Amino acid sequence: MKTPAASGLTRFSVSLPTSLAENLDLMVLQKGFESRSNAIAEMVRDRLVEHHEQNSSREIAGTITLVYDHHKRNLQEILTNIQHDHHERIISSMHVHLDHDNCLEVLVVRGKPREIRSIADNLIAAKGIKHGKLTITTTGKDT
Ligand code: NI
Repeated sequence: MKTPAASGLTRFSVSLPTSLAENLDLMVLQKGFESRSNAIAEMVRDRLVEHHEQNSSREIAGTITLVYDHHKRNLQEILTNIQHDHHERIISSMHVHLDHDNCLEVLVVRGKPREIRSIADNLIAAKGIKHGKLTITTTGKDT
């Protein structure tokens, strides 16, 4: 539920896993945000910029970062299949064995924002991915 206020601010409640909330508060302190709300507002703005990129038909470049445990059943195979399905958009990849269990993969992608977002969503949604993130940047043609 949200409550519009005269101040132009909207208050709403969010439920987070405790450890996530603790880490958020730690980051708020470390980065010197005025409040938890300010920190969250900045993160939301950042994601909205990315979201609006999707409506553009201009080609973008980006990186997809994935962290996962390679022992997770079928995960490696699923990730490889998705990447082969989009070989024309995934122009480079790097795999780092972080420790005995964990792998870090960085894929460099290029294409229409919608296509890139869809590939990233498919990969990040694979069961067993511990963290995944798409970073969108420009191809440099229009800067
Ligand atoms: Ni590995």
